[in-house]
Amino acid sequence: MSNLTIVILAAGQGTRMKSRLPKVLHPLAGRPLLAHVIDTARSLKPAKIIIVYGHGGEQVPETLASDDLTWVEQTEQLGTGHAVEQAMAEIDDESNLLILYGDVPFTQTNTLAEMVRLGSEGFGLLTVHLSDPTGYGRIVRNSHGEVLRIVEEKDASEAERGITEINSGIMCTSAKLMRDWLGRLENNNAQKEFYLTDTIAMAVATGVPVNTAHPAMEQEVIGINSRSQLAELERYYQLQLAEQLMASGVTIIDPSRLDIRGDVQIATDVTIDINVILQGNVRIEAGASIGPNCVIIDSSIGEGAELLPNCVIENSSVGAGCQLGPFARLRPGAMLSDNAKVGNFVEIKNSSIGRGSKVNHLSYIGDTSMGEGVNIGAGTITANYDGANKHRTVIEDKVSTGANSVMVAPVTIETGATIGAGSVITKTAPEGQLTLTRAKQVTIEGWQRPVKK
Ligand code: UD1
Ligand code: CA
Repeated sequence: MSNLTIVILAAGQGTRMKSRLPKVLHPLAGRPLLAHVIDTARSLKPAKIIIVYGHGGEQVPETLASDDLTWVEQTEQLGTGHAVEQAMAEIDDESNLLILYGDVPFTQTNTLAEMVRLGSEGFGLLTVHLSDPTGYGRIVRNSHGEVLRIVEEKDASEAERGITEINSGIMCTSAKLMRDWLGRLENNNAQKEFYLTDTIAMAVATGVPVNTAHPAMEQEVIGINSRSQLAELERYYQLQLAEQLMASGVTIIDPSRLDIRGDVQIATDVTIDINVILQGNVRIEAGASIGPNCVIIDSSIGEGAELLPNCVIENSSVGAGCQLGPFARLRPGAMLSDNAKVGNFVEIKNSSIGRGSKVNHLSYIGDTSMGEGVNIGAGTITANYDGANKHRTVIEDKVSTGANSVMVAPVTIETGATIGAGSVITKTAPEGQLTLTRAKQVTIEGWQRPVKK
């Protein structure tokens, strides 16, 4: 069993976000900042994950509740040291204690694994050199390069502010030692806070070796304090994802105009045009092409399928070789078999569309089971709702419906039936025959347009 305990600090207000939403719930790549940190924490397989929450009240634990998380409330935000202290009652003295921040979402597992190693040998600190270190705590070293202490910017001398090595805030050490040091913290500093960072000087005084690790990428330690920083990290995060996809054989027309907000699996030779959003669980098979401005949410796209511009697809599956759009909308439960076609201004909901069937123009198909080789005329509507209940429409193989026809569910259109344009079908349309409901066309002899008196 792992002796690693991870504490995530997430009680701060995040004043600079200017938001009613607690900072750690603001989304990065579609998920709360804190959810990213929790994921990374889990990847280290710790014995326990404790989250210190406070500002924003129960909203944070309610949003991210999970059996493997322990929540500790810090009712007053008296500083990072005070925050960790709130969690100590939940922590075993024998554990190795890793401290993460809920607003530092991009730290990588390898980096933290190295921190855990340093922590088990003394005290590990994650630091980085920044060309602009403004706002961060600075790492003060002696002439031998050994870490002596951390000084917060607001308490730093002119010379100390010149130090470019900064404290990421992420640290790891023995829980037993940390408990002792936290008990001795004082708040006689510029911010009248109990600084977690003051424990470093205590470690040095105790003779505990303080060693530093450095992330592979600067962005790993960037904390989000403002919406502007959030947008910047979002872009960076997206570019990383785009790079990974391109390296795996996906063509992305412009990596700066793709947004991935979830877990995607994209096979080789898929082409993704600009302004595409992929959200939730999305799977795209080999050779498919996704046109500009498509939004795909929790759906799968089959091999070689072609999405023309502006398709919106949610909770649906699109078979191999299908062609969609432009401007097609698949709502939850649309299941397209291979080679189906769904054209412009067509909405499909909770319906199966058989192999090779076509719904090409201006239609609504809802709660329908459609067979193979069907041709749906422009403007065909399945009227599935009687104002109280929804009913199903069954359209069997090789049916052809005329333009502007309405199928009033529950109703069945049998195999090979043809529906005349403009019909309102309320009863079974029999197999292989033409059914139509419109009145016969008449021409009124001698009729004249009225004239103005
Ligand atoms: C802290 C560090 C600083 C480091 C910087 C990195 C201290 C004293 N300073 O400064 O050295 O360079 O982070 O981003 O630790 N929090 C609580 N409860 C509190 C106070 C803070 O949970 O009472 C949480 C916040 O939600 C946040 C994190 O701790 O996730 C850091 O707090 P913040 O106030 O942003 O610390 P900084 O002043 O940025
Ligand atoms: Ca901060």
